[in-house]
Amino acid sequence: MAEPLRIGLCGLGTVGLGVVDILNGHGRLLAERCGRPLSLVSVSARDRNKSRGVNLSGCDFEADPVALARRPDIDVVIEAIGGSEGAARQVVETAIAHGKSVVTANKALLAHHGIALATAAETNGVSLNFEASVAGGIPIVKTLREGLAANALERISGILNGTCNYILTEMERTGASFETVLAEAQALGYAEADPSFDVDGIDTAHKLSILTSLAFGTAIDFSSVHVEGIRNVQAIDIAYARELGFRIKLLGQARRIDGRIEQRVHPCFVPLGQPLAAVAGVFNAVLAQGDFVGRVFLEGRGAGRGPTASAIIADLVDIARGLRVPTFAVPVGRLTRGQALPIADHIGPCYVRLRVLDRPGVLAAMTAILARHDVSIETMIQRGRAPDEAVALVMVVHETKDSNLASALAEIARLDSVVEQPCRIRIESF
Ligand code: NAP
Ligand code: HSE
Repeated sequence: MAEPLRIGLCGLGTVGLGVVDILNGHGRLLAERCGRPLSLVSVSARDRNKSRGVNLSGCDFEADPVALARRPDIDVVIEAIGGSEGAARQVVETAIAHGKSVVTANKALLAHHGIALATAAETNGVSLNFEASVAGGIPIVKTLREGLAANALERISGILNGTCNYILTEMERTGASFETVLAEAQALGYAEADPSFDVDGIDTAHKLSILTSLAFGTAIDFSSVHVEGIRNVQAIDIAYARELGFRIKLLGQARRIDGRIEQRVHPCFVPLGQPLAAVAGVFNAVLAQGDFVGRVFLEGRGAGRGPTASAIIADLVDIARGLRVPTFAVPVGRLTRGQALPIADHIGPCYVRLRVLDRPGVLAAMTAILARHDVSIETMIQRGRAPDEAVALVMVVHETKDSNLASALAEIARLDSVVEQPCRIRIESF
C-alpha cells in the first residue's frame, strides 16, 4: 500500500472529535478506499488537558495550530476551529503557503476570504476542500461542482440552517412563540448561547454565498446577499400559512435572472406539496435546478459531530486519492463578477399581516395606498368583530415588485388605525 496521508487536525470540538471518531473507527475501510492509510499525526486545540473522550494516543499535541500548519511531516491540515479571522484564517493561510492541502468546515471564513484562499491554493498547487461548510453531511458541494457539471444551473433553494428549521418546526408543532422555542432549543443544546448568527440568517447567507459561486461560476459575493432572519415570525403567521396551504421556512436562494445574480435569505411561504416544505427539525435540504437534469433534491443532517465529520473525511479521501478540482468549480481567474440583483427588484407574491383597529374606513384607506403603489390583492382575511380594538388583517398580494410593496407598507404603517409594524413574508413557487 502507498505511503500514508499525514494529517494535522486543528480544533477538537464537535467537528474535530467527529473526525477522530471516523479515523479511529474506519481506518481499514478508508485505507481500502484511498489506496493508502489516513494517519492522524498531530492535533491542536486551546486546552491540552481537556478530557475529550476519544483515543488520541497515536498523535502528538501541538499547542500552536499555526505551528502545526507549518510542519514538514504533515501533508494536509484540517481546520475545525471556526471564525472568519484569527487562528482559523492563519492556519489555513499558513498551511496553503507551506504547500499543504486544507480541509475546512468554516463557512464564515470562506464567505469572507474564499477567493483569496482559493487563489493561494491554486498558486501553490494544493486543494482547498470545504464540503462540510454547507449543509453538513449533505454532499452539496460535490453535487454542484462535479455531479451537475454538465448543467447550466438556474436556481438553488436551500434550508441551510438546522437551528432555524428546528425553531420553525417546533413553533408549528406547539403553537409556541419564537422566544419560547428558542429558549428551549438553547436548553437542549440545539441553539448556541448567542444564536444571532443562526436566527438572523447570517449563517445561511454565508452558506448561500458559497453555493452561488459554485452554481454560477461567480466570485463569492457575501455582501450582496439580502438577509432577514426569523425573529419576526409569529405563531399566528405559521397558522395562517397552514390555512393558506404553505409552511414557513427560512430559505437561502440564488437565481440568475437576465444576467444578474439574485441572492436572498429570508423566511418564505413554501407550498405544502413541495419537498422543501416537508423538511422538519434540524434537517437541511437543497433543491438545485439544472437545464438538462431538471430538479435535484438532497436532504440530510446539516450539522453535528457525525454528519459534519463525514463530509470532512470525504474531502480527505479525495486528497488521498490525488483528486484535485478547481476550488469553486472553475479556476479563480475565470470566476465572473456577476451583477447583483437587489431585493428591491425582486418580483413575487407576498403574505402581509397587519394589526389594525376594527373600525369603518380602515380597509378603504389601506387598499387605496396599495392601489397607488400598484399592489394588487389576491386574498384578504379578517375574522371576528372587535369594535375599536386591534385585530389581525391578513392579505395575500399578487406578484409585485418588492420595492413597491415596501413603500406601500411603510405608508400603511403610518396610518393611525395600524397598531403594529406590518409583517410580510414572500411566497415562493418552484
Ligand atoms: P467547537 O466545538 O467550538 O470547537 C472549536 C475547537 O477549536 C475547540 O476544540 C477549541 O479548543 C479549538 N480552538 C479554538 N480556538 C483555538 C485556537 N486559537 N487554537 C487552537 N484551537 C482552538 O466548534 P465546532 O462546532 O466543532 O465548529 C468548528 C467549525 O466547523 C466551525 O467553523 C463551524 O462553523 C463549522 N461547522 C460546525 C458544525 C457543527 O455541527 N458543529 C457543522 C458544520 C460546520 P478547545 O476545545 O480547547 O476549547
Ligand atoms: N449552526 C448551524 C446550524 C450548524 O444551525 O445549522 C453549522 O453549520
